[in-house]
Amino acid sequence: MQLSIAIPSANCSYLEMLSHLHCRPATLLTFSKSFQIYRRTKFPSSMASISTVSTEKAASSNQDQPTQKTHLPLQVSPPVPASISAQFQDYYILVRCCVGLSKFDSSFRFFVLVCWHSLKWLNLVAKRLEKFKTTIFTQMSMLAIKHGAINLGQGFPNFDGPEFVKEAAIQAIKDGKNQYARGYGVPDLNSAVAARFKKDTGLVVDPEKEVTVTSGCTEAIAATMLGLINPGDEVILFAPFYDSYEATLSMVGAKITSITLRPPDFSVPIDELKSAISKNTRAILINTPHNPTGKMFSREELEIIASLCVENDVLVFTDEVYDKLAFEADHICMASLPGMYERTVTLNSLGKTFSLTGWKIGWAIAPPHLTWGVRQAHSFLTFATSTPMQWAAAAALQAPDSYYEELKRDYMAKKAILVEGLKSVGFKVYPSSGTYFVVVDHTPFGLENDIAFCEYLIKEVGVVAIPTSVFYLNPEDGKNLVRFTFCKDEETLRSAVERMKEKLIRR
Ligand SMILES: Cc1ncc(COP(=O)(O)O)c(C=O)c1O
Repeated sequence: MQLSIAIPSANCSYLEMLSHLHCRPATLLTFSKSFQIYRRTKFPSSMASISTVSTEKAASSNQDQPTQKTHLPLQVSPPVPASISAQFQDYYILVRCCVGLSKFDSSFRFFVLVCWHSLKWLNLVAKRLEKFKTTIFTQMSMLAIKHGAINLGQGFPNFDGPEFVKEAAIQAIKDGKNQYARGYGVPDLNSAVAARFKKDTGLVVDPEKEVTVTSGCTEAIAATMLGLINPGDEVILFAPFYDSYEATLSMVGAKITSITLRPPDFSVPIDELKSAISKNTRAILINTPHNPTGKMFSREELEIIASLCVENDVLVFTDEVYDKLAFEADHICMASLPGMYERTVTLNSLGKTFSLTGWKIGWAIAPPHLTWGVRQAHSFLTFATSTPMQWAAAAALQAPDSYYEELKRDYMAKKAILVEGLKSVGFKVYPSSGTYFVVVDHTPFGLENDIAFCEYLIKEVGVVAIPTSVFYLNPEDGKNLVRFTFCKDEETLRSAVERMKEKLIRR
């Protein structure tokens, strides 16, 4: 059915209105009923209502005689709740305008059109994704632009990736490497990924059968879950967790069990983990070094998780996109633990290590029996990833050790500026061993929760952080914590600290 957003003139006739809507009276009736149900369940108390009539024909009546049978409630003058999304706020305001129109019948038409338009945004989202709004990273980055705030929220560097990698991309484009790539990766990149994996972990994998190139780690995560998890399977996540895990598992129809890692050290509560594993548990997802806390899973924690997985025949999906940003300890790859390779999918990407987050080149490494599932999903998600960028990624992965050493040195200097700065501002800063994130307790500043604190920080101080409650199944668990990133040049980090020192006041 075609939806129209045209708003009829005050005097337009009922038939004209229908021509705008491209639908029949019966459809309007169905719509008005579902809207009432929606309104009642979502906003039970904040609205008053007035009744109006539709011209729907009663099924039993004379077909030529329209009967007045439907009572449509209209909302009047409710305050627009702050929590309502931008599109829905428009809807509120428009409907309030409509109530002000003098000709009641035309306001009804207008109302229906507005609702119809709003429904397009509100109710057509599939149930499995209904609860997910615009990602918090997008929301905060948009607010940062609006308020001219320094963005220490979303984890993208404000500096560029290395010249030799950019040159390799330009060369690949000039060399005509511009058509679809092989679905699971251009051969040079598959080989480069396998070579780097061997260097880092000692594991020898077959680039043709065990490496799948994807559009960023995000797609590797999606392909892994869609390819290896069945609806109803249980998957264990450690909260706080990167937001795509929950949304992707929702798309799969999996049941999520979340185990909360708590400050100060965010260690794995082993007993909780043991009791969370059931006969339906299909996989445990880990992320080390961990976004947002900077925690690195210790060898002991990984060994316990590994033995529980072997004992209960559970798979492990391990997101290691920050493996080269391990500052306080050596990164341990889960797949390298005894008995684990055969049940592990290792997920990674180029973006963080090479400061090229916009390229979205990622990969999944897994034994052939798991790669099969990953590739089945990948084939129908994106089929193949940008060809010239894959060639450039192959060049990137041949970087000498000195590249990674310098990267670490740079980030440690940045981290010191931010961590010392945050401490001097008055935050309680939790230790971060890896990633380019640090989590703090914002409660000394007296704001109600993490979202209120971040809004205040953007609007009144001019700095962006990320509220962590979005990383939990139970948002209450994260309400005292916010995340800052230090993947910015040193001057930006210093300016952000200065702003906070000047304007953030303890209450
Ligand atoms: C833990 C984690 N996994 C995956 C991703 C996404 O990686 P990519 O940009 O390669 O899709 C991110 C990005 O922030 C991340 O923090």
